[in-house]
Amino acid sequence: MLTLGIETSCDETAAAVIRGTTVLSSVVASQVKIHEKYGGVVPELAAREHIRNLMPIIREALEAASVELKDIGLAAVTYAPGLIGALLVGVSAAKAIAYAQNIPLIGVHHGEGHILAAQIEYPDIGYPYVALLVSGGHTALYQVQEFGKYRMLGRTRDDAAGEAYDKVAKMLDLPYPGGPVIDRLAQEGNHEAIKFSRSRLEGYDFSFSGLKTAVRIHVALFKSADKGIDPALNIKDVAASFQTTVVDILVGKTIQAAVETGVKKIVVAGGVAANSLLRKKMKQQSDERGIKLYLPGMNYCIDNAAMIALAGYLHYQRGERSGLDLNPQASMPL
Ligand code: KG4
Ligand code: ZN
Repeated sequence: MLTLGIETSCDETAAAVIRGTTVLSSVVASQVKIHEKYGGVVPELAAREHIRNLMPIIREALEAASVELKDIGLAAVTYAPGLIGALLVGVSAAKAIAYAQNIPLIGVHHGEGHILAAQIEYPDIGYPYVALLVSGGHTALYQVQEFGKYRMLGRTRDDAAGEAYDKVAKMLDLPYPGGPVIDRLAQEGNHEAIKFSRSRLEGYDFSFSGLKTAVRIHVALFKSADKGIDPALNIKDVAASFQTTVVDILVGKTIQAAVETGVKKIVVAGGVAANSLLRKKMKQQSDERGIKLYLPGMNYCIDNAAMIALAGYLHYQRGERSGLDLNPQASMPL
């Protein structure tokens, strides 16, 4: 059984082919170059770029898997949440393929795709596990009881962690997306240089807007409209201090959730899961408590279609199908 996965929820155009649950190909075309100069994703430009790129990317994924469209038995596509115009491109293409090839269609929740990405490389994880989903659009903790059962333990009350990275990068006149750049600069900075205030929410909820404001206030001391950023501002120290604060919050809450729920396995998913300090600290603290940690490889942390194909295939195996009236939705809880 071959599944074609399609992902166009934000600024990556992606297609993948899997056989059963094994990935044969996964192709991702990033639009970063287009959105970079605006300091964030411009929804209309993203949708137009998906229209241009999606069919060539699908063809590339089929070729890389050495299969043809007629061999595909299932079309899986991200239908929520995301930028509505961007989602519409992927959903329309998947519907057209399903209709023309007379194969089943399945709509996948983007967040579920991210969580299941860990199972591409670790098919034997087993349930239950605690999942930290941390990307540009989400920051939430789930107790995953079994496939398809996601009990939300907590979520961000304001910004997603990735969004905070992107906004802090913008304040520092660094390019979009901010996560990888801040991650790199932070490695050369002093993480104790600046004590940014952090939220102390009870339970498993997160909040990053206070931290973002704290960084903004600090940077403002060195910034003027006419001269830009004063060289006296040590950007590496800001990056390191900000990153340590974010990572401490993410790791602290995730470990707390695993300990308090008695679940001895953690999965970290989403674009921010690519963060080097998050990976390091989560590993250290999981090891200290005898918790098994599953981190997707970098290619499966960021948006990709292999995770969508896998999630779609697992739903298909349970007998689920989407109709050709499947509509994309900008927001939808998992
Ligand atoms: O999952 P993703 O590709 O798209 C969404 O579904 O949002 O995540 C993108 C987010 C961006 O905010 C980006 O800045 C962040 O992930 N990111 C990182 C790193 N790499 C990507 N954040 C921190 N450290 C990184 N190394
Ligand atoms: Zn994503």
